[in-house]
Amino acid sequence: MNQKLITVNCIGAGRWGPNLIRALRNIPRVRVSKVADRDVQRLELIAQRFPEICITSDVDAALTDEDADAVVIATPVRTHYDLARRALECDKHVLVEKPLCGHAVQCQSLTRLAQDNQLILAVGHVFLFNAGIRKVREIIESGALGKIYYIHATRTNLGPIREDVNALWDLASHDLSIFQYWLDAVPQEVTAHGESFLHEGVEDVVVASYRYPDNVLACVHASWLNPRKVREITVVGDRKMIVWSDMDVIEPVRLYDKNVQTRRDPGYADSLGGFQTQIRDGDVLIPHVAGGEPVAAECEHFIQCIRENRRPLNHASLATDVVCALEATNESMRRNGAMVKIGAPQDCDGGRRPARRMTVGAPAG
Ligand SMILES: NC(=O)c1ccc[n+]([C@@H]2O[C@H](COP(=O)([O-])OP(=O)(O)OC[C@H]3O[C@@H](n4cnc5c(N)ncnc54)[C@H](O)[C@@H]3O)[C@@H](O)[C@H]2O)c1
Repeated sequence: MNQKLITVNCIGAGRWGPNLIRALRNIPRVRVSKVADRDVQRLELIAQRFPEICITSDVDAALTDEDADAVVIATPVRTHYDLARRALECDKHVLVEKPLCGHAVQCQSLTRLAQDNQLILAVGHVFLFNAGIRKVREIIESGALGKIYYIHATRTNLGPIREDVNALWDLASHDLSIFQYWLDAVPQEVTAHGESFLHEGVEDVVVASYRYPDNVLACVHASWLNPRKVREITVVGDRKMIVWSDMDVIEPVRLYDKNVQTRRDPGYADSLGGFQTQIRDGDVLIPHVAGGEPVAAECEHFIQCIRENRRPLNHASLATDVVCALEATNESMRRNGAMVKIGAPQDCDGGRRPARRMTVGAPAG
């Protein structure tokens, strides 16, 4: 039986938008009808590449188009709330780029609007569709790592440099979505430092530490001012350790059968220093990781969720949790590394009234 044709309009054809347009176009029974952007030059590039797509600088035309089932938004973060709200109000399913909005209250309002209108609201946390990231989750779920001690993420490169959001919102938003996906938990508190070297008030370098339930520590170093492109996360458990590197296209995941065992030496049981540590240095396993382009998988998943009316993996609540953590991290940076409790989404209000609605701990150290 032929599936219903799904018509999608896209808003934003800058650096990232064309990836989504291309991926959507490749899905059977999906038609990208209109692409809207304020920048006519960007639209002309789309017209050259995909002559069948109608280009327009009239964003309302793409939002209100009665033929469209869905709208995909890849514009700067400050525009996400308004564009996604208007799309949902026009009865369209929405895939909007990450981070969902600049404020958690906006995220919640969009989540409610989508729920009330029974529409899919998915967010471009594309690493949830990365086969290596999925493999690591599978290994964590199997219990092979044992108790997780800590996670360390490095996400650096020289550019692309943004002025609208800092390196935290641009880059670490990916890591926060990955941590949540792996741990099935949200962070409880954060301490962070950041520096703005290129544009005043926009941190190019951020170092943040999050505390998750069960005393799991997760650290992120995010920067677009670094000589090396690194996309790497290490997870250290009490039984095994794992490293994921997105730069290793063929073998992105390595499982290290290594650990440190601490036990009390019976011979010294009465002495204060009667502990022995034993380092076990076992094999390194390179599990098979399926290929496939994450953005293609993300777009296919969005269309499937529309067809089957089911909650996307990259759902708006997860994206709201990420924004809550980002807001708290900004607050910690503003307070020079103070420990900031990360509230439940309903407690976050975009950092506009932190003193009343966020609990700010004593400065670290
Ligand atoms: N998932 C990923 O890996 C990934 C990668 C890059 C960017 N992104 C996200 O994609 C979004 C866009 O990033 P980008 O790098 O493409 O930015 P960009 O600045 O290169 O492109 C944004 C485009 O949106 C257009 N635009 C701006 N305001 C508009 C409006 N109100 N209506 C219509 N068009 C408008 C601009 O003219 C521009 O062409 C951001 O949210 C970013 O975080 C995600």
